[in-house]
Amino acid sequence: MILITKEKEGNFTPFALPPSLQLGSATASLQIEGGDKGNNWYRFCEEGRVKDGSHCIVADDHWNRYEEDIALMKQLNHKVYRMSIEWSRIEPERGNYLEAPLVHYRKMIQIMLEQDIQPLVTLHHFSEPIWFEDMGGWTNLESVEIFTSFTEKVVSFLGDLVGEWITINEPNVYLESTYSSAIFPPEKPSMRNYFKGLKNMAAAHIMTYKQIHHLRSEMGFSSGTKVGVAIHIRVFDAEKKGVLSKLPRALLEHNFHTIFLESMIKGKFLFPIGLGGYPYGKGTYCDFFGVNYYSRDIVKFTWDPRRLFSELLVRKEAEINDMGWEIYPEGLYRVCEKYFRLYKQPIYITENGICDATDAQRTAFIYDHLKVVARLVENGVPVEKYYHWSLLDNFEWDEGLQRRFGLIEVNYETLTRTIRRSGQFYGELAKENEVTEAMIEKFLNQ
Ligand code: BGC
Repeated sequence: MILITKEKEGNFTPFALPPSLQLGSATASLQIEGGDKGNNWYRFCEEGRVKDGSHCIVADDHWNRYEEDIALMKQLNHKVYRMSIEWSRIEPERGNYLEAPLVHYRKMIQIMLEQDIQPLVTLHHFSEPIWFEDMGGWTNLESVEIFTSFTEKVVSFLGDLVGEWITINEPNVYLESTYSSAIFPPEKPSMRNYFKGLKNMAAAHIMTYKQIHHLRSEMGFSSGTKVGVAIHIRVFDAEKKGVLSKLPRALLEHNFHTIFLESMIKGKFLFPIGLGGYPYGKGTYCDFFGVNYYSRDIVKFTWDPRRLFSELLVRKEAEINDMGWEIYPEGLYRVCEKYFRLYKQPIYITENGICDATDAQRTAFIYDHLKVVARLVENGVPVEKYYHWSLLDNFEWDEGLQRRFGLIEVNYETLTRTIRRSGQFYGELAKENEVTEAMIEKFLNQ
């Protein structure tokens, strides 16, 4: 059943997608693969820390069912697919690299390429080896060298097949969730560690950005190498006009977006990780701007410096998803337009999606957000790729398996996959490159 609010019904009009735009979906290894016991999320689940009590050990069993899942991508007319590599499979103990899991990933990617689906591969998507977490993770200075060596192994093995890489997914969400709200393992809040971690992640990104380019050119690929980070970008709107509302908003912008973007993209380390200098050299350390966009927050002033004087609210009249996040398509326009103006890089929307267990809102969500993408391109903002989060329902970190983000529903008893109506809509849209009157009748106006 598609549940469309009364005001929306009849408001859908046909539109065309830019011919150059490539559509697909995104996932992360830990959230779908299952079977790995060497990573810190396995331990977190074993300790019973996940909200709904579920576990990541099976997840979608994608490790064994990847052929079926690639066939589903093809059925949904994917041109591109974003995936990640599970670090603890490759390096279960420090310095001890295994080839078998790399062979597995290679096979997976080869099958994708045979189906004309271009991979974008993330090297660090939240989960990491237990030994790495136990040595302090990204707060340990050695993390930079360790991650660089891991990257070298992976890219040397897969770099002839894969030209497009994301070094680190959402360093801002990772550090916020690990050291500020501390809902991620090891659940030890520390703002000092937040900034230490950021310094090392930025350094690791810059090193691996250069390294991936170097390795690929040594392999004889003089073009086609694209490296970036995927940053979670939220819209922060002040609750009121006065200075008291503007201050926390400005602090949030700085701490959650600006210091990450400036250090990773330009090499500029702003306070408190630096004083505006370039410890690794001035440069442009990305070949595309990766945006993960979901929602906006309304920022209210509160007398609490530890929370950067801010309380995050949801606009009262807002339509929300199952996580309570506002559905705000215009925000996608605002962030892409703003960051293209600032960084002048082609934009990949590396994640955009909705938690919607009944699939009541996802079709309209896709319609609205892709309409925004079409408008962005028309207005000169070069959005080149759009990866819907997510291909399949999956393990939503501290929230567990109950949260449903998939174009494809996964039954966790049987592991059967069923394409949702919204998934069918997305698949048709990817095939036709436009929303037609017939598609509106079939998927939206009923
Ligand atoms: C993360 C994903 C996550 C999604 C939905 C992003 O912050 O990269 O791993 O599942 O949001 O919460």
